[in-house]
Amino acid sequence: MLSRLMTACRAGDGIIPVSGFRSTVEQQKLFMDSLGENGEEFTFKYVAFPNHSEHQTGLAIDMAENKENIDFICPSFPYEGICQSFRELAPKYGFIERYQKGREGITGISHEPWHFRYVGYPHSLIIHTKGFTLEEYIDFLKGYPCEGEHLIFRNGEQIIEIYYLEASTQQTGICIEDFTPYQISGNNVDGFIITVWRNGNG
Ligand code: DAL
Ligand code: ZN
Repeated sequence: MLSRLMTACRAGDGIIPVSGFRSTVEQQKLFMDSLGENGEEFTFKYVAFPNHSEHQTGLAIDMAENKENIDFICPSFPYEGICQSFRELAPKYGFIERYQKGREGITGISHEPWHFRYVGYPHSLIIHTKGFTLEEYIDFLKGYPCEGEHLIFRNGEQIIEIYYLEASTQQTGICIEDFTPYQISGNNVDGFIITVWRNGNG
């Protein structure tokens, strides 16, 4: 999807991915090296603690303007030109700008214009349209529990149903009809987000 997004915004050589998946060892090294080179204040603002980075999930990507001397921790990715085109098209391809200005109190991370998170479509579009952080979206979905009203996303012919399933301490199960495309994602807190493509045009 990143490759499709880069093609769609005609990125060419103008922007490049800088950092995607990081192993625990890599995040540990980045954290410790930054502590040594940049000190605590900077490091706590811009580098997640080892085992707390979404780079370790493989779902995060740091983007940069393609120029000399790219900063690995804080690459330049301004709100204009090709970077902004990428940012504006991102939700259509499943990505969100993850650490926005003014949301530091919710995300716990400083403003990072370069850090994008893959959450999948249509979650990315809903998050973007409603101006949520990922944390707010996860909370919002709790208002659409399995046993209650489900969130229905419509886009043209497409109908996608979304709901929250609480994790049980025993066994957690749902029934989904045969031949119905669906996804089950852990919400990384206390349950699952279920996405069901109702008209099969996933
Ligand atoms: N820079 C982000 C917060 C990370 O290290 O995951
Ligand atoms: Zn990042």
